[in-house]
Amino acid sequence: MPSKNTLSRRTFIAVAGVAGTGLLGAGCSGGSGPGPTAVELLDRHHGLLHRAIAILEEIRGGMDARMDLPPEIIQGTVAVIRLYGIDYHQKMEEKYILPAFEAAKKMGALLGVLREQHAAGAQLTAILQKLASEFSAKDLEKRRTMGSAIHQFSRLCRAHSDHESTVLYPALYQVMKPKAIGDLNGAFRKSELEVLGHNGFEEGIKTLVNYENALGTGDLASFTPRIDELS
Ligand SMILES: [Fe+2]
Ligand SMILES: [Fe+2]
Repeated sequence: MPSKNTLSRRTFIAVAGVAGTGLLGAGCSGGSGPGPTAVELLDRHHGLLHRAIAILEEIRGGMDARMDLPPEIIQGTVAVIRLYGIDYHQKMEEKYILPAFEAAKKMGALLGVLREQHAAGAQLTAILQKLASEFSAKDLEKRRTMGSAIHQFSRLCRAHSDHESTVLYPALYQVMKPKAIGDLNGAFRKSELEVLGHNGFEEGIKTLVNYENALGTGDLASFTPRIDELS
């Protein structure tokens, strides 16, 4: 992936730009044409976040087993969550998706919970970053605190994104007209390029794959259950 500083800076500038210029309202044409829809892009981000959480959960499991814990993997994984999940994905939802439902006066209660959880997720990510920067595998208190923070973030992020993917995003087509959906798709494709850069998503995944390999969970086949051992 790009260096943390490069991506952080680029992300900040581009997110600020997206928020300031009102891409969708201006009928931006840069992202028009074939490509993934806004909902497909958002669902991809959820997949990336779930993989990042799986890495943190793997490490949390290791804490109980008292294995050596690599602080650089915790730090790197939390940095991916911050850049892709908090600084980009959440901001795009708050800029484009939630207002579409608010304008249609639909799903008010759910929107309130989602906004509250965005704030909590950002706060928890900041706490995880601080804990990761001070982490020492030998310090039992730090291990316990880190384990608890990972558990809370994992619980929040999985439930939150699963509700968005199964309840909120499918309903988008009921509150936006086809033309507006087309503009939304274009705006998402354009900002994905501006904020994450060429292959930005793939680079985030590549970083996570390196961590998965280091933890021994890089091979998807390793998750296939051994059902014969249960009988
Ligand atoms: Fe969200
Ligand atoms: Fe989301």
